[in-house]
Amino acid sequence: MKEKIEALRWELNQHNYLYYAENQPVISDFNYDMLMQELIELENKYPEYKDANSPSARVGDDRNVEFEQIKHKNPMLSLGNTYSKEELRDFDMRVKKLIDSEFRYVCELKFDGAAIGLTYKNGELQHAVTRGDGQRGDDVTANVRTIKSIPLKLRGNYPEEFEIRGEIFLSHRIFEQLNKEREKVGKTVFANPRNAASGSLKMLNSARVAQRELDCFLYYLLSDKLPYDSHYQNIMEAKTWGFKVSEHSQTAANIEEVFEYIAHWEREREKLPFDIDGIVVKVDSLRLQAELGFTAKSPRWAISYKFKAEQLTTELLSIDYQVGRTGSVTPVANLAPVLLAGTTVKRASLHNADQIELLDIRLGDYVYVEKGGEIIPKIVGVDKSLRKPDNQPISFIENCPECGTKLVREAGEANHYCPNETDCPPQIKGKIEHFISRKAMNIAAGEATVALLYEAGFLKNTGDLYRLTARQITGLERFAEKSAQNLIESIEKSKEVPFEKVLYALGIRYIGQTVAKKLVAHFASLQALQAANFEQLIEVDEIGEKVAQSLISYFENEENAALLQSLQAAGLQFEAVAKEEPKSLILSDLKFVVSGTFSLPRNEIKALIEQHGGKNLSAISKKTNYLISGEKTGASKLAKAQKLGVRIISEQEFLALLGGIGD
Ligand code: IVH
Repeated sequence: MKEKIEALRWELNQHNYLYYAENQPVISDFNYDMLMQELIELENKYPEYKDANSPSARVGDDRNVEFEQIKHKNPMLSLGNTYSKEELRDFDMRVKKLIDSEFRYVCELKFDGAAIGLTYKNGELQHAVTRGDGQRGDDVTANVRTIKSIPLKLRGNYPEEFEIRGEIFLSHRIFEQLNKEREKVGKTVFANPRNAASGSLKMLNSARVAQRELDCFLYYLLSDKLPYDSHYQNIMEAKTWGFKVSEHSQTAANIEEVFEYIAHWEREREKLPFDIDGIVVKVDSLRLQAELGFTAKSPRWAISYKFKAEQLTTELLSIDYQVGRTGSVTPVANLAPVLLAGTTVKRASLHNADQIELLDIRLGDYVYVEKGGEIIPKIVGVDKSLRKPDNQPISFIENCPECGTKLVREAGEANHYCPNETDCPPQIKGKIEHFISRKAMNIAAGEATVALLYEAGFLKNTGDLYRLTARQITGLERFAEKSAQNLIESIEKSKEVPFEKVLYALGIRYIGQTVAKKLVAHFASLQALQAANFEQLIEVDEIGEKVAQSLISYFENEENAALLQSLQAAGLQFEAVAKEEPKSLILSDLKFVVSGTFSLPRNEIKALIEQHGGKNLSAISKKTNYLISGEKTGASKLAKAQKLGVRIISEQEFLALLGGIGD
């Protein structure tokens, strides 16, 4: 059972990353919630496998390293959610059990965008902060100031200091316009308005954010000086201060009226000019809200009822297999065309072999196709009543459809991979596309150019980019002298891109932007990174076994070694530029493990260690000098530190070590 729990955690972490960091989710919210529910049930059933770092124990993390972080005065929790009416009745029963007086509910639309907390002082916007990990979020004030529906100065009779929370979103019209423009210039389109909204909120240039025409509904006030005891009345009051609040909120005298509200919006939501993914039910009285309080994750006084995504059945005709940049093979279903949520659907993603097996899908079956907010629909089940007896089970292909190499599937991995990293065409092209992308080497070329140069035989790996000449390119289809020259200049310019981006650009499995930054901060040069063994790698803060193993196999591969040499010879950056001057060297050569919770956020303690010349390690070993132990440090960590003679110090002792810095 332990393996099953770990597999679910891994999968959910993967989806969290795709959703929050990449803004490119691959499963529907419903399926995500089902996975989460499965995990929570297993964790409750097998408490011996509980883990404080399980994805069930946290709301996702949307933070971006480029933004300053701000601590939420009140944690930004999410809502308990359900897809079933019975569970909504259970919620009503729970509330009634805890409250003996009469009470009302408020029903609101559940806007599908990015949560934001706005703080105001003396009627002026102070900060706009994203959810982040619920405790601390990104300071996106500069971007939020560009949103016209968010007042910068309030009117009327507002409290002196308060926070108001809401959802930043894009209307359908603006979303479609944005994607059209992106398509025109060859950029990847956003999967849905929600991803477009949260992506826009995290752009580094607020002038460009302003062009995106984001919008915002506000739905939650936090202050001890609100005019009414009723949430509904307060929100209506906030409208008079200048906030945009929804005109579709309604109070309900009982759960039956809540059901009526749901039924109404299940029918009418299609007509709204923006996405909602459900409705939110809240106890109206603030006094009663306070009485009900919160669990660790969400309020007891509210719940969200989520709409199921639209579904249809259609026939599964055949399966294609697509090979991605990393060699991962994704099965894609060809379907008898059906009209679903306004578009004709012909293809749908099937994820991987497990998914096919799990759903027991056979060729010729009628499958349920679901389209949530995403553009690519998913197959979520099979109508077995329509199965013909000779429908054949699907046997996953054994060889790469592109290069014929035998596929591999590593233990614990859901995906099949084509191991032919260096000769399989989509892998080569995909690697080059990743290499040149904006967040990596930022070379001004797109998919079409890569394909063109590849077909022409000029590009076999990323190293070949630096051997291209304007003369070779000029004359290729679509390439005039000027555009050839521009491309060469852009390639030349990429030689200045800093090492952490180069490392990310290499496209080594599991090395995303954040991991690349961590590795460069620790090792500072390719040479040092290549020389590190497994133990030295996993010692690094936040570097796990998978990353370590992936790096080692990458460096062991001779073709990769040759590529790195050629990139080095071309003059790319393989050394970190000197970091910020350390504030002091008090901690130089000292190695720390930070564990538990503290009055300062843990990341700040870690940052202090680095700023004063020390190093952060992820696990205690003989080499550790200090364990900084806060509240709730695991007993096994403490025992290990004691056994190895590692000094255990408190937050205060650590700060004293720095001579009061950070007080
Ligand atoms: S109230 C303490 N009201 O849904 C919780 N949230 O899954 C306060 N959302 O975090 C949240 N519409 O980002 C609330 N009318 C609404 C909402 C809403 C959308 C979002 C919000 C929240 C998430 C919970």
